[in-house]
Amino acid sequence: MDTAEVSSICCIGAGYVGGPTAAVMAYYNPHLTVTVVDRDQARIDRWNSENLPLYEPGLLQMLQSARDGSTEDMEHQQMATVSPQSERRRPNLLFSTDVAKNIGAADMILIAVNTPTKKRGLGAGRATDVTALEAVTKQIAIHAKAGAILVEKSTVPCRTADLIRETLKTYRPGVHFEVLSNPEFLSAGTAISDLVSPSRVLIGSQPTTEGLRAATALERVYSWVDPCKIMHTNTYSSELAKLVANAMLAQRISSINSISAICEKTGADIHEISNAIGADARIGSKYLKAGVGFGGSCFGKDIRSLAYLAETLGLPEVAEYWQQVLKINEWQGTRFARKVVKRLNGTLSGKKITVLGYAFKPGTDDTRESPALEGIRILLDDAPAEVAIFDPFCCPTVVREEVGRLCGSEVLKCNDGSVEVYENAYEACDRSHAIIIMTDCDEFRQSAKAGYEVSNLENRLDWPKIVYNLEKPRWVFDGRGIVDLDVMEKVGVRVEGIGRVGWGGL
Ligand code: NAD
Ligand code: UGA
Repeated sequence: MDTAEVSSICCIGAGYVGGPTAAVMAYYNPHLTVTVVDRDQARIDRWNSENLPLYEPGLLQMLQSARDGSTEDMEHQQMATVSPQSERRRPNLLFSTDVAKNIGAADMILIAVNTPTKKRGLGAGRATDVTALEAVTKQIAIHAKAGAILVEKSTVPCRTADLIRETLKTYRPGVHFEVLSNPEFLSAGTAISDLVSPSRVLIGSQPTTEGLRAATALERVYSWVDPCKIMHTNTYSSELAKLVANAMLAQRISSINSISAICEKTGADIHEISNAIGADARIGSKYLKAGVGFGGSCFGKDIRSLAYLAETLGLPEVAEYWQQVLKINEWQGTRFARKVVKRLNGTLSGKKITVLGYAFKPGTDDTRESPALEGIRILLDDAPAEVAIFDPFCCPTVVREEVGRLCGSEVLKCNDGSVEVYENAYEACDRSHAIIIMTDCDEFRQSAKAGYEVSNLENRLDWPKIVYNLEKPRWVFDGRGIVDLDVMEKVGVRVEGIGRVGWGGL
């Protein structure tokens, strides 16, 4: 496939990665046709509507342009500066369930299917489940045009490109396909700005003329990215670099969380520690926020995958090293939830506990592997009268369904259980015995400048109102370090946080 010949792209998997990535590629390449395919009809229907299957700032505007041909100015500043269009454009982004047909029509095929942790069998709970990837590779082998370029967008174990090549050879002998690795580094909640201004684009290819030609073809698709941000490596390095990037980010979080426990027993303050060490350019300030632990669909599974890879390569010490990152993460969430129970005299009986923040982080409705859910499970063991949940980014019906599915439907208030999900933060907090902050949403933050008296800034919770309606002795458990301990204590609130000495001293 010559670089100039790529005119149609098929992205398999209309999820958190496939949808936004295809939207941005289509938006910046009006000459290309980008079709996103998925076997999930309901998901594709939502991508074809205004009611998108996921929330990402800027995504709807991108779709309105690339999918619908709308010419209204993009709100996104960064997009506006490099926007290719000023006149009406040809819609060039499509969503379909016809996987086979669209694979057959594409010059380049992106694989963006899910790669979760295996649930059963060999390597259960650790190895990556490549079932979806294997299935789509077989479909590609059968339906793809000879010479189409395959691109791994999914996060995969190192040497998965070889597995893909083998599958292609088995089902399509004698036909050559180039397989590239192009892992995605976007974060939930900032997907569009991460895609528009990536820190880097990694393209792994075979060190052959055909491999490098395919890599150049993919580089051209990233037409909006500064070429000096595009990095070429071999396929294995690219695959492994993605796992390592997530593992290293998660490792920093577990490292700072482990120190937070020392702070709570010594009088040191974890925020001061983070600031002090983060000022050293060799360490850097990012991913040093202590809290209830990391969540999300990827950090956990990617570390498990890396540790399993090390184990299968006969490197148990390496596997153990990365497992420890997960152990600390689990321990951090558990010790925080247990502290809540301990501080409430070891019993939650007859008490209402309010959980603020349910998604795995602010700015997203993605609830996969959310630390809040684990915390709620621990609280439920102590049979509270009510666990009230509020998250400004999550739909209460969806959260209710999920808690019912993962903890058992009997825990829901509608089934005489104790869990209720609220649309309104004040109702969730009303007459509560303790508030537990699980995500660092701006809405939950106190105004750093103004403190308690005027904390009711736009979108921010009116903390005085909340505190007034709490049951005495008025507890707030701050799992993300966002309320001011001194200010709260002055008005009679007992605050326990992470990484600092809480109410009552050492
Ligand atoms: P997802 O579960 O949101 O989406 C995957 C989609 O693939 C689903 O819609 C599913 O129906 C579809 N699919 C599965 N098998 C299929 C098949 N045989 N035919 C057609 N469609 C099929 O997953 P995601 O969050 O988008 O993640 C995809 C990959 O990207 C994973 O490997 C993940 O590790 C990686 N990743 C995710 C993120 C993130 O923020 N979510 C960021 C970077 C990388
Ligand atoms: C992460 C990576 O940041 C992305 O680069 C990567 O592409 C993605 O995983 C993936 O492969 O799926 P994401 O999971 O969306 O992105 O979210 P992050 O912002 O990295 O946060 C992950 C978790 O760590 C959240 O629960 C967050 O609250 C927590 N966190 C983050 C901390 O506890 N402290 C910090 O300092 C930073």
